[in-house]
Amino acid sequence: MDGNGRWAKHRHRPRAFGHRAGVQAVRKVIEACIRAKVEVLTLFAFSSENWSRPEGEVRHLMDLFLRALRKEARELAGNGVRLRFIGERSRFSPELRAAMAESESAALDVVRLTVNIAVNYGGRWDIVNAAQALARAALAGQIDPDAIDQASFEQHLSLAPLPEPDLFIRTGGEARISNFLLWHLAYTELYFTPVLWPDFDETAFLAALTEFARRERRFGKTSDQVSSKPEAAHV
Ligand code: FPP
Repeated sequence: MDGNGRWAKHRHRPRAFGHRAGVQAVRKVIEACIRAKVEVLTLFAFSSENWSRPEGEVRHLMDLFLRALRKEARELAGNGVRLRFIGERSRFSPELRAAMAESESAALDVVRLTVNIAVNYGGRWDIVNAAQALARAALAGQIDPDAIDQASFEQHLSLAPLPEPDLFIRTGGEARISNFLLWHLAYTELYFTPVLWPDFDETAFLAALTEFARRERRFGKTSDQVSSKPEAAHV
């Protein structure tokens, strides 16, 4: 979700104004995912590197997350949206951690969409975290190191047991992954758009899905071996 700051700057407003508009874009994209029958949406809201932003901006973002959660979590649950947070939470305030835990434990009659919000997340952290968990289990004699394979490794990553993303969208014009889901993006279709996040609406989202539908996903096979057109289930 890149481009909040520039969006605000174009309007001669502070960066905080862009982040608030960013929350509205999150809402629109969640609604668009439900309409498009996307089952999993993972949003990169705050990277482990974002702590190095000016203190006032970090404080504003924390405040915004807390207010957005308190305001929206109940309504999202009522609409069949399950919230999950991935990332290292210990650095967040007790209030924010409690609001995250509470929204994750909401009971849902039916789940239409799972939204993972990556906060204080880094793809390298996720991989190291999984390696540590497996090393501890091996030291305790619970697993045989030679039995570790990709499937068992993946179970220790923070997205587990959800599937890896079909489509990665980065707004704001930069063409890089910036330490997002490094393990999971191995075969994900990458889509980069110059649209700034606050302007990323349903039309822009559907343009990304249309581009995704044109891609041929071969997973190392030949074009003749794979003929059916994919549908994005995890964005
Ligand atoms: C990057 O754009 C954006 C962020 C670091 C914050 C993203 C947060 C939101 C969109 C709010 C999400 C809220 C919830 C509840 C999930 P930037 O500010 O770096 O933009 P720039 O590159 O134009 O400066």
